[in-house]
Amino acid sequence: MKASSICFPAAVLLVLIGMVWGIQMAISQDHSAMPAHAHLNLLGWVSLFLFGIFYHLHPAIDRTGLARGQAYTWIVGTVILTIGVGLVHTGHEVGDPIAAVGSLIVLIGMLMFGWIVLKGRISERAADRSLTPAE
Ligand code: HEM
Repeated sequence: MKASSICFPAAVLLVLIGMVWGIQMAISQDHSAMPAHAHLNLLGWVSLFLFGIFYHLHPAIDRTGLARGQAYTWIVGTVILTIGVGLVHTGHEVGDPIAAVGSLIVLIGMLMFGWIVLKGRISERAADRSLTPAE
């Protein structure tokens, strides 16, 4: 399976949950979980969709296990972070360590993405050099 095929449907699923949550917050006029809603939408929709676009634009990377691993890491981290932040902001201290674990997982997910981008740039440069005729 391609990494982008993980990112796009998961991003849509997460934003649908985030939107329903936003509507629930608006109807109940209780915005206390707003930071969790914001994190779910920005990490789960915006960032994940952007990863998907990047992978889709780089087909060789899209098919790698590392890219799939990065997408799964990001999704798991986003869900855990959202639960933790939601619990903290609704007065449940137990959410604190959960948010901490989630934040470290998304940090790992972003470091993985940074490594993927860097590796991709290095291989692109090597390919460019091999295509340039020798002087
Ligand atoms: C049906 C769709 C949505 C509804 C009904 C909704 C509803 C809300 C509500 C009621 C708040 C709390 C506002 C406040 O207390 O000041 C909020 C905050 C927020 N929402 Fe949504 N939301 C929706 C979709 C989204 C999406 C798609 C994103 C991101 C792409 C998003 C990002 C945010 C952010 C960043 C905040 C925090 C804003 C701040 O710091 O004042 N929301 N939303």
